[in-house]
Amino acid sequence: MIVAIDGPSGSGKSSVAREVARRCGLTYLDTGAMYRSVAFTCLDGGVDPEDAEAVARVAREIDIEFQTDEGGQRVRANGKDVTSQIRTPEVELAVSPVSANPAVREVMVALQRRAGERGDVVAEGRDIGTVVFPAADVKVFLSASPEARARRRAVQRGGGNLATGENVVVDEAAEKAILADLVRRDEYDSTREASPLRPAEDAVRIDSSDLSFEQVVATILALSPELA
Ligand code: C5P
Repeated sequence: MIVAIDGPSGSGKSSVAREVARRCGLTYLDTGAMYRSVAFTCLDGGVDPEDAEAVARVAREIDIEFQTDEGGQRVRANGKDVTSQIRTPEVELAVSPVSANPAVREVMVALQRRAGERGDVVAEGRDIGTVVFPAADVKVFLSASPEARARRRAVQRGGGNLATGENVVVDEAAEKAILADLVRRDEYDSTREASPLRPAEDAVRIDSSDLSFEQVVATILALSPELA
């Protein structure tokens, strides 16, 4: 069973993919964390993210490991725990040119396919249904309006939860900055030459702007009797 979930930044893919994997006993594969790990390792080693050759070398040599514990999933790059370091604004800037690098994509796609060889995976990213697993059993393209996505990220960063209504405080300046970054990354991801972000022809499109987290999860689980 392979479930592919693609979509733009902040569409809720990560939490939805993680929950679908948890409920169905499948392995969760966060491919964005892989590109982020390459970007972080470049910055950490003084490699310019725009230096295509040097970045490709980092990607060919990198060892990425995922570990799941009660606190969620931890990511290690070359033995170093980078779980929080791959979420910084510096990495967010560097990850665009890194993920647009065809040599990096070639290495990451091969690693992702290897992770999916044994099946039973929920993989989320930008090119899962189009490139990594074109024969996936279930393909979802999850989107939401830029404003809804920025609002979710802003609430999340402030430690709140929109699903439960807990601690929902909105910092408008932060939300504006997040919106600008989302729009910039969407534009970069959708217009790059190597595997641009686009829905697979056979993907089920879900717009989560006005849906709750639970409704999105339920919609995906209903797509296949094997997930129900
Ligand atoms: O999903 P996340 O925001 O963590 O992804 C970080 C970046 O990695 C994206 O902005 C995109 O440029 C890149 N990415 C990609 N292909 C994937 C997953 C992520 O190009 N399959």
